[in-house]
Amino acid sequence: MAPRKLAAGNWKMNGDLAAMDQIDAMLNSAEDASCDVLICPPALLIHPMVARIGAGDLLVGGQDCHAEAKGAHTGDISAEQLRDAGASHIILGHSERRADHAETDAQIRAKAAAAHRAGLVAIICLGETEAQRDGGQTLDVIAAQLDGSLPEGATAANTVIAYEPVWAIGTGRTPSTDQIAEVHALLRARLSDRLATGADVTLLYGGSVKASNAAEIFALPHVDGALVGGASLKAADFLPIIEALD
Ligand code: G3P
Repeated sequence: MAPRKLAAGNWKMNGDLAAMDQIDAMLNSAEDASCDVLICPPALLIHPMVARIGAGDLLVGGQDCHAEAKGAHTGDISAEQLRDAGASHIILGHSERRADHAETDAQIRAKAAAAHRAGLVAIICLGETEAQRDGGQTLDVIAAQLDGSLPEGATAANTVIAYEPVWAIGTGRTPSTDQIAEVHALLRARLSDRLATGADVTLLYGGSVKASNAAEIFALPHVDGALVGGASLKAADFLPIIEALD
């Protein structure tokens, strides 16, 4: 088995019911594509998006969850509730959550275990800051984040890893292709050491992916798709990225 290819859109805190109009074209594209196509909208939009898609081929996911299934956690959402709303995937450990909510690797590992328990595919995000890159620490940082946030029971079927350099997110800057390839080779080697199915885990790159750079990034070894922010909000920007992967 080879890793499944995945074009994933992270809408972050963007979008409203009117933004559902973008979904129709994305759904058509997903149905024609051989790769998986996923949109992770704000949690409030998951259920209406799933309802609009119906039996169609576009996947819908969440952007975070609580590590517990239910209880007294005001304002939080569990993996089970996301699953109940129709989600199939969940983004965890995004650098914006690590920064805004001080999320640690241990918390991300617990959330990933919760996602697996609920039957969701966990997309675990890793990435170095610019200072860490400049300090020559990138590979150590990525290895530590991977080791710290991957839960017991992770397999190629329930886990995706997204490499997102913090300094490349929303900046229009991307690492060189050599830099992306170096990190993805490290991820593949470490996952293969740790998991029986490590060779088949889908590895995404994220950070300023757009139509003009997608094909070059997707041509790199061990890059099985992308986690796309800004360019996933509009079908006109996202469709060429799906086509470049397909
Ligand atoms: O999770 C996706 C992300 O952080 C990348 O965002 O806007 O640089 O594609 P963007």
